[in-house]
Amino acid sequence: MPHTTTLADLVGIEHCKLGFYQELQQKVEQLKSSNLELERKRTEIQALLDGITDLMVVLSEDMRIQRVNHVFAEWYPGIDPVGRRCYEVFRGTSFICADCPALRALDRDEIVKDLCVYKLGERFRQFDIIASPLKAGPTGERQVLLFKRDVTLEKEFQAQFYQAEKMATLGTLTAGVAHEINNPLTAINGFAQGLKRRIGRLQGQVDADLYEDFCEYTDTIIKECLRCRDIVRTLLTFSRPTSTSLAQVDLNRCVTDTLFVLKHLLKEQPGLTVRIDLEHELPPIHGDESQLKQVIINLLSNAIDATGGNGAIHIRTATAAGGRVELVIEDSGCGIPHELQHRLFEPFFTTKPVGKGVGIGLSTCYAIVKSHNGEISVTSAAGQGSAFRVALPGVHA
Ligand SMILES: Nc1ncnc2c1ncn2[C@@H]1O[C@H](COP(=O)(O)OP(=O)(O)O)[C@@H](O)[C@H]1O
Ligand SMILES: [Mg+2]
Repeated sequence: MPHTTTLADLVGIEHCKLGFYQELQQKVEQLKSSNLELERKRTEIQALLDGITDLMVVLSEDMRIQRVNHVFAEWYPGIDPVGRRCYEVFRGTSFICADCPALRALDRDEIVKDLCVYKLGERFRQFDIIASPLKAGPTGERQVLLFKRDVTLEKEFQAQFYQAEKMATLGTLTAGVAHEINNPLTAINGFAQGLKRRIGRLQGQVDADLYEDFCEYTDTIIKECLRCRDIVRTLLTFSRPTSTSLAQVDLNRCVTDTLFVLKHLLKEQPGLTVRIDLEHELPPIHGDESQLKQVIINLLSNAIDATGGNGAIHIRTATAAGGRVELVIEDSGCGIPHELQHRLFEPFFTTKPVGKGVGIGLSTCYAIVKSHNGEISVTSAAGQGSAFRVALPGVHA
C-alpha cells in the first residue's frame, strides 16, 4: 500500500524540524556566549600585557626571538625581531654573549636575574633582566621568557643620592677642618692685635720707613685674619644641620652669607645682574640657619639656571602681614608654564637634562620651609620669569 502523507505526518515532521531548529539556535547562543567570554578574557589578558612596561621577549633554545610585547616597538622602532637571534638585535653582535642569562636559565631550569649594560639608540643604558624557562610545549621545544626593565634613571638617582650623602659628609668634614683652622687663626689674630697695640712704642726709635712697613704689615695680617675668620664662620654654618642648631636667625645675614659662598659662581656669569634689597631691622626668625641657607642656595641656583647666565635676579627681604618675614627671589629667566607649576615641589620633578637636574632642590626647600611653619609659593609665566616667595614666622609673631 503506498503511503500517503497525511496532514498528521506533515505536522509531525514540522514539529521535529522546529525542535531541531530550536536546539540549533540554543547551541548557536551557547557558542556566542562562550565566544563573548573568550573575547572578554582575551581583552583582559591583552590589557594586562599592555600594562606591562618592561620589555618581554620569548626566545627559543637557539636564542631566536619568537615573540615580543608592545614595548619592543617603542624601544626599537621599525625593527621586526621575530626569527632573529637576540644578541644580533640587542647587542649588534654575531656571537652569543658570555654569561647569557637566558642560556643559564635554560641550563639550570631556574629563574636567573642579572643586570646588563648595553646601548639603546645612542646611549648606554642599564637593564634589570629576569630570564624564566618556560615549560616545554607538546613538541618538546624549550623556550625562555625574558623580562627587561630599563633601570638607568633609578641607578642615576641612586648615584645622585650617594653624591648628596657624600656632600653632607664633606660638609661635616669641612666643619671639622674649619674648627681646626679657627684656633690657630684666633692666636694669629690675637698676637697681631698685640703687635698693633705695642707698635707705637717703636715710633722714633726705628727708621721711619721701617716703622711704616711694620704698621702696614700688621694691619694686613689683621685684615686677612678677619677675612679668614669670615670664611671659616660661613663654612661652619654650611655644615650638616644638627638638632641643636635651632636658634634665632637673621634672614638678611643668611642671604649675604649665601651670596658670599656663591660669589665665584656669580662672577662666572657676566651677563647676570643681581640686585639685593634687604630690609633694615628685619625681625629674626627661629630656625636652623644652615637649612635656611640651603633654601636660598637652591632658589638662587634655580634662578641662575633659568636665566642661563643672562638677565637679572632680584633678592629682597621684607616684613609681611602678621609679623611674618618674607624672602623673595625673582628672576627674569625662562619662567614656568602654568600646567607644570603644581608639580614643582614634587620630589624628582625636573625639566633639566640628565646630569644637570635631579629635581630635589624645590622639594627640599618645601620640606625645610614647612618644618619652620612657613609657606613657599611661586608666581610665574612661561617666558616671563619667576618669583619664589618664602614667608616665615618672625620670632615675635
Ligand atoms: N626660577 C625658576 N625658573 C624656571 N623654572 C624653575 C625655576 N625654579 C625651578 N624651576 C623648575 O622646577 C624644576 C624643579 O626644580 P628643582 O626641584 O630645583 O630641581 P632641578 O633644579 O634639579 O631641576 C626645574 O627643573 C625647573 O623646571
Ligand atoms: Mg634646582
